[in-house]
Amino acid sequence: MTSSWETTLLNLPIMNRNIKNFITLPPFLTLCLILLSLGQTIQAQQDQNMQGKIKALMAKMTLEDKVGEMTQLAINTISMGEGYSMQEPHQLDPADLKKVLLDLRVGSILNVADHAYTKEHWHEIITAIQEVATKEKPTGIPVLYGIDAIHGNNYTLGSTLFPQQINLAAGWNPELAEKIAAITAYETRASWIPWNFSPVLDIGRDPRWPRFWETFGEDVLLASDMGEAFIRGSQGDDPSAPDKLAACMKHFLGYSGPVSGKDRTQALIPERQLREYYLPTFQRAIQAGALTVMINSGEMNGIPVHCNKAILTDLLRTELGFKGLAVSDWEDIGYLQTRHRVAKDYKDAIRLAINAGIDMAMVPMDLKFPILLKELVEEGAVPMSRIDESVERILKVKYQLGLFEAPYHENYDYSKFGSEEHTAVSLEAALESITLLKNEQALPLAKNSKVLVTGPTANAMMCLNGGWSRTWQGNSPKWDAEDNKKTILEAIQDKIGKDQVTYHEGATYDKLTKVDAVTSAAANVDAVIVCLGEMPYTETPGDIEDLHLPVAQQQLVEAVAKSGKPVIVVLVEGRPRLISRFEDKATAILDAYLPGNEGGRAIAELLFGDANPSGKLPFTYPREANALLNYDHRGTDLAGPLGFNPQFEFGFGLSYTTFEYSELKLDRKELTEDGAIEISVQVKNTGDRVGREVVQLYITDKVASITPAVKRLRGYQKITLKPGESKQVNFSIKSKNLAFVGVDNKWVTEVGDFEISIGGLKETLSFK
Ligand code: BGC
Repeated sequence: MTSSWETTLLNLPIMNRNIKNFITLPPFLTLCLILLSLGQTIQAQQDQNMQGKIKALMAKMTLEDKVGEMTQLAINTISMGEGYSMQEPHQLDPADLKKVLLDLRVGSILNVADHAYTKEHWHEIITAIQEVATKEKPTGIPVLYGIDAIHGNNYTLGSTLFPQQINLAAGWNPELAEKIAAITAYETRASWIPWNFSPVLDIGRDPRWPRFWETFGEDVLLASDMGEAFIRGSQGDDPSAPDKLAACMKHFLGYSGPVSGKDRTQALIPERQLREYYLPTFQRAIQAGALTVMINSGEMNGIPVHCNKAILTDLLRTELGFKGLAVSDWEDIGYLQTRHRVAKDYKDAIRLAINAGIDMAMVPMDLKFPILLKELVEEGAVPMSRIDESVERILKVKYQLGLFEAPYHENYDYSKFGSEEHTAVSLEAALESITLLKNEQALPLAKNSKVLVTGPTANAMMCLNGGWSRTWQGNSPKWDAEDNKKTILEAIQDKIGKDQVTYHEGATYDKLTKVDAVTSAAANVDAVIVCLGEMPYTETPGDIEDLHLPVAQQQLVEAVAKSGKPVIVVLVEGRPRLISRFEDKATAILDAYLPGNEGGRAIAELLFGDANPSGKLPFTYPREANALLNYDHRGTDLAGPLGFNPQFEFGFGLSYTTFEYSELKLDRKELTEDGAIEISVQVKNTGDRVGREVVQLYITDKVASITPAVKRLRGYQKITLKPGESKQVNFSIKSKNLAFVGVDNKWVTEVGDFEISIGGLKETLSFK
């Protein structure tokens, strides 16, 4: 029976009706639930208001206004200069600005012309753009400016540059990744830019791919956790806050698995693998509220993704429920005609892409897109409903970013931009990520050692930062100099004193330089630090034909090894370049990946024992080019006697201390669909230094209806232990942690036995 006050509650709006359910709960919980419910109601109300505003605005918009909103142009199109060749110093062209914003009604601008600008110049640019957009354009719709703030707000001079994504994955610390994303958002908004084309959520399963270092590595769980942390850190609870922005998960979908290993070449990915390895990072980011997505430039299974409706609409929208804005990648609509040859001309390419589900075209250099799109609508080749859908999504992001109220935040305190506080986080991330792969009692070096520092990456800031660093390719030393940071050589000199350090370049990336000088210098020191690796690159310019490091670098190691002195190899590289031809000559190996502006300092701290390495490989380090298997391969990937024999395994990384694992316990041995198994293990620091350890839980499905992976990472925790200290680490395993994509391409957990393994200890559980 319902009492009269209950009847009243039932008739009230949703929030109040929920109160009825709280009445039997303890007062504090009741209050929390009421506040939560109130929050949800306010949110729903705000969404409704926003929706109302968008509808009202759209009702006033002409077709020109709408196709303009769907157009994104590069800053070059509104700057002094022609095409890609821009006037220096950079200057906006007021006439072009008006043409683009007022005649074409363009809704979004991106990028820099050539190189990073000062914060003040960004303010001038954004003010000029928003003044015209909001005051002179009839709709008054602000422009959505987008940038690649890939490892920090790299296109603004003086910003904090962090280690690249691959390093963050090697740090196995999503909280730190969230902090870095939050600082990047703050520093990007400090330039008044509200949209960041980051994070890369392509899974890094092929080390040949030149964008490998932009990923969070090969494991689905680790990469998904990192991606979610990045979305949270970038957007916060309210992306309109002056220190938050819209993240852009990219590149949907299947970009990182090209058959050739080269950028923007075709991938052949069966649906099962797609769902099991390539999709989950995006799925988690969508659940975390990612506002925008960028589309894969390549093609998958013969269909360019930019015109693949099954991916862009059926999967992304209908199945995953993504409601945000989908932007094309650079010139990719045009490439449907010129590269993929699935469209007879540019107009046809636009028809295919928009009908498949692209909302905004990163055109980015010509002005024809909105004109041709308008014609397509008038001819009935693109339905008006498709245009309205996209425009609504674009306007929604602009509202969510608060651009209508404040197209930029002139009075917000951005004084922490490039600050010591932010720099300290960059150093911490570099220290957490750099991975000690080999140590035959050579490290840490004593501070009174005399060392020879040599190799192509020893004295070049650009190698530590990699691509997307002040310029697209990150290969211009001129812009590095502005940052005034320490190379590996300089940081070592600071640490132990210049007079203890001899330096000879020894080799460029692929040529020996005065190697005799290096050999004779090696005779007079206690240890040789050989800094090898890659020159900066990103995207297609980073394609390679051979994963081995160039022969010259191998010869340099061989030359210094002849001295009989300990040879410490420091790898500065965006992907695991093969070292098997000289690995035996190295006494110690430290993989720094691309550790960013504080990388030199971090390497020196680690080499001389002021910090203890705690990074773990977020990928399998291959030994040979014909053996590029991931750690979670199938048993059937190995037939003959060769076995799985990578140079270093996924999750591997040494420390200056040692850890001992014991007492692996399961609170029960049988798991049911709705239950959980609590797993615990004791980890002890058995050495004499404080150390950080990544405790990794792997599960092997013993028998499955589809050949199971040899093992999968299903949990991890990074802990700190003092010498002699012991900690219990707990994991909770549910049925979903045992799942895989089954025969019907759906996630399934099958009844049977599973082997749990942590730190070499093993136990078995069954799923009933
Ligand atoms: C890259 C994207 C990037 C875009 C804008 C493209 O070439 O593939 O990752 O966000 O350019 O700069």
